[in-house]
Amino acid sequence: MKLLIFAALLGLSVAQHNPHTKHGRTSIVHLFEWRWADIAAECERYLAPNGYGGVQISPPSEHIVLDHPWRAWYQRYQPIGYNLCSRSGNEKELQDMISRCNKVGVNIYVDAVINHMCGAGGGEGHHSSCGSYFNANTKDFPSVPYSNLDFNDGKCRTGSGEIENYGDPNQVRDCRLVGLLDLALEKDYVRSKTADYMNKLIDMGVAGFRVDACKHMWPGDMKAVFDRLHNLNTAWFSAGSRPFIFQEVIDLGGEAITASEYFGLGRVTEFKYGAKLGTVLRKWNGEKLSYLKNWGEGWGFMPNGSAVVFVDNHDNQRGHGAGGAAILTFWDPRLYKMATGLMLAHPYGVTRVMSSFRWERHFVNGKDQNDWMGPASYSDGSTKPVTINSDSTCGNGWVCEHRWRQIRNMAIFRNVVNGQPFSNWWDNQSNQIAFGRGNRGFIVINNDDWSLDVTLNTGLPAGTYCDVISGDKSGSRCTGKQVQVGGDGLAHFQISNTAEDPFMAVHADSKL
Ligand SMILES: *[C@@H]1O[C@H](CO)[C@@H](O)[C@H](O)[C@H]1NC(C)=O
Ligand SMILES: *[C@@H]1O[C@H](CO)[C@@H](O)[C@H](O)[C@H]1NC(C)=O
Repeated sequence: MKLLIFAALLGLSVAQHNPHTKHGRTSIVHLFEWRWADIAAECERYLAPNGYGGVQISPPSEHIVLDHPWRAWYQRYQPIGYNLCSRSGNEKELQDMISRCNKVGVNIYVDAVINHMCGAGGGEGHHSSCGSYFNANTKDFPSVPYSNLDFNDGKCRTGSGEIENYGDPNQVRDCRLVGLLDLALEKDYVRSKTADYMNKLIDMGVAGFRVDACKHMWPGDMKAVFDRLHNLNTAWFSAGSRPFIFQEVIDLGGEAITASEYFGLGRVTEFKYGAKLGTVLRKWNGEKLSYLKNWGEGWGFMPNGSAVVFVDNHDNQRGHGAGGAAILTFWDPRLYKMATGLMLAHPYGVTRVMSSFRWERHFVNGKDQNDWMGPASYSDGSTKPVTINSDSTCGNGWVCEHRWRQIRNMAIFRNVVNGQPFSNWWDNQSNQIAFGRGNRGFIVINNDDWSLDVTLNTGLPAGTYCDVISGDKSGSRCTGKQVQVGGDGLAHFQISNTAEDPFMAVHADSKL
């Protein structure tokens, strides 16, 4: 009997590791700061047709509106309540987006900020995304409502009330993170308010949550919140489906709190992945692509079933968070496409593609003074829509990495090879590598300073394949390079080190 109960509990929590993506789709895209109306349209016109499985949206909860610095992107990580009314749109627009994306089989994952409210210096008034009153001085948030009884200030033992030492888990969980008012998640009342907020979204049809700042919450408190969560809405998901939970825990090693403390609750963001991949592709510290033969758990990353992986995220693409200068972003497009292509070809983890807005960087002594800048907006502070140009790129400063041919085609590659083993590895002991996924796909990368010219075993059936990096298969034609695979599975590859994109990829659906 005890064993049965244990198995049932385990089953319940392991279920929170499943992203519930549909139609064989595998990747999530983070549409950072996009408006709900734009995401709804993107699900229909682009994400579903191109096989993206889900969208991570920016926090939908009512947030502070900052004047200094003006409308910083991180204002959305400072909730003042749980009304569904944010810079991205109101509740009606949110519901419309969730329904329209679900209708075309694209899941919505909500960025949930439940560790804290706004900064202690957030002031008093109606300067919030929907004009709700709050008072950060007295810790009064009437729209929830939370009062000064609902925060951890009595529990924190540091003189400043801030986290002073990351070596002390009590400080990290009980004190303020960069001045943010730290919610007392040990209180039943706070647990019920945060769970109510998440349940409202589940009932509206979302598939799960990226949970912000998990290192700063006790896993036991989080479990108490997640145990109250409803199953997913059966209008869109099979009965008994648990919400997908992926937790932001920055663990590059060397801290008191480890990612493994959170594995029981859901998946965890693997920050080592992008930091290491950036270092390898930049060839820093003597790293080489050939060392990726045992990429994944072999590199000391978390277990495959626990990991959400990404090349960069909204924090570390602008020097926040973790990974530093090694992190590759759209600002280094050539290496970035290779890194994202490699991630999407490799079987490790649930993959998340970043989609960003451009901002004007201004480095002083290696630090970007404009790391706070939000998306392009009108003079009243409202976010400019995502416009689509005739060549399918995006306007108004939206980068739309997920629409770059090389990245979009590798997201499709991942769907085509889903479930196939990592196979037919080859390397030249330097920065030229190749690997396959069973008999469904093959990728070749040249990051050396000389060309690649080699015949490799692809594992693919004989035929002519279209390289989906240099072009697209369109009908029976290929707009890019072609690859001839012989009856023995061998194919000849030539990749110049000066090619615009020094990598090639073919898969079962790119066969001509
Ligand atoms: C790792 O997890 C991914 C995503 O769930 C899965 O597609 C893949 O098959 C797993 N790889 C291994 C080696 O188990
Ligand atoms: C790397 O690859 C090239 C050809 O693809 C080869 O000439 C070279 O010897 C290989 N090995 C090293 C260590 O560069």
